[in-house]
Amino acid sequence: MVLMKTADKKIKVVSLFSGCGGGDLGLLGGFDFLGKHYRRLGFEIVWANDILPFAVETYKENIGDHIVEGDIRSIDSKDIPAHDLLVGGFPCQSFSMVGGRKGFNDPRGYLYREMLRVLKDKQPDAFIGENVKGLISINRGEAIRQIVSDFTNAGYIVDWRVLNASHFGVPQKRERVFIIGVRKDKKTSPHFPSPTFGFVPLREVVQKHSEVDNRYYFSQRALVGLDRANKAFNKGRAQDLSGPCNTISTHLAKVSLNGTDPVLLVGPRNYRRLTPLEAARIQSFPDSFTFSGSDARKYIQVGNAIPPVLMWHVAKAIRERIFNDRPIFKSEEERNNVADSLQEYIPRTKGLLVSA
Ligand SMILES: C[S@@+](CC[C@H](N)C(=O)[O-])C[C@H]1O[C@@H](n2cnc3c(N)ncnc32)[C@H](O)[C@@H]1O
Repeated sequence: MVLMKTADKKIKVVSLFSGCGGGDLGLLGGFDFLGKHYRRLGFEIVWANDILPFAVETYKENIGDHIVEGDIRSIDSKDIPAHDLLVGGFPCQSFSMVGGRKGFNDPRGYLYREMLRVLKDKQPDAFIGENVKGLISINRGEAIRQIVSDFTNAGYIVDWRVLNASHFGVPQKRERVFIIGVRKDKKTSPHFPSPTFGFVPLREVVQKHSEVDNRYYFSQRALVGLDRANKAFNKGRAQDLSGPCNTISTHLAKVSLNGTDPVLLVGPRNYRRLTPLEAARIQSFPDSFTFSGSDARKYIQVGNAIPPVLMWHVAKAIRERIFNDRPIFKSEEERNNVADSLQEYIPRTKGLLVSA
């Protein structure tokens, strides 16, 4: 059967700004989170890159040795292997520092251009870019328009969506922009996943009291500070355990009761910060994923990551729609049992739905 023959053919991926590998884990699949198995999607990452040594160490330990540590600006495209799909969560600082039109001339504001350069030079079938939701409102939409226009001019059909991780089985209200492009000759278009899950409550990933070290609890002094704070500023962001967590960031190491980062209220006037393990679970990392370095470094890697489960859904949609000439299902039966968007374009046998 044709499906059997092509099922093992892997889609080659190059991953830029890979960090600790959150997005790459999602893209690969083959992991468990909250009792659900996220199967392998048929991608193979042939080359990855990040500048941050401890993130690269984590990546090597959990994903593979194919990651190269270094500044992407000094890596020649000819040293990057040919691939079918390019992925990159280009750094958001590139845009947060962009104040006005002048900011576009800041070389640090142009890291997405490195992705553009690789795209132009290597011409993969498709790409996935990821960034903070704020990207779409910078300079009244000028930044996203510029990016879409640049990627379009590189020969791609480009579209973007804001996806909320909590709609895909992640216990966090993280909203991110996904920009997807398909090379113009591919005769298909960018495709995004539809929300598939009800909310996963934060309660599901919080550790037991007995597992949490004292250093994660706030002192009485911090509580006095909280009492003095103006409530109008909505300080002390104690999370509602019955819903998804607010977005976590790299600040978690320095979180204070006076800030806006999520904290937990674990008893009357008893607050604590999230542990690195809880932060990782809130981002949908499986417990088996290990992070290198101090707590501060763990929070940075976790806070920067694309939630693996969210990326799995994005990658699955692309795998099925854009790379559907290389199906992931081993049999027709398995293929027909999938209750998702794939069903939209599978030709149905005429008369199947006609009842007697
Ligand atoms: C938003 S994070 C990406 C996280 C990653 N996608 C994940 O899912 O774990 C952006 C990454 O870009 C990396 N970075 C920043 N400047 C870079 C550069 N000039 N060259 C290579 N990597 C860079 C940072 O170290 C950081 O890990």
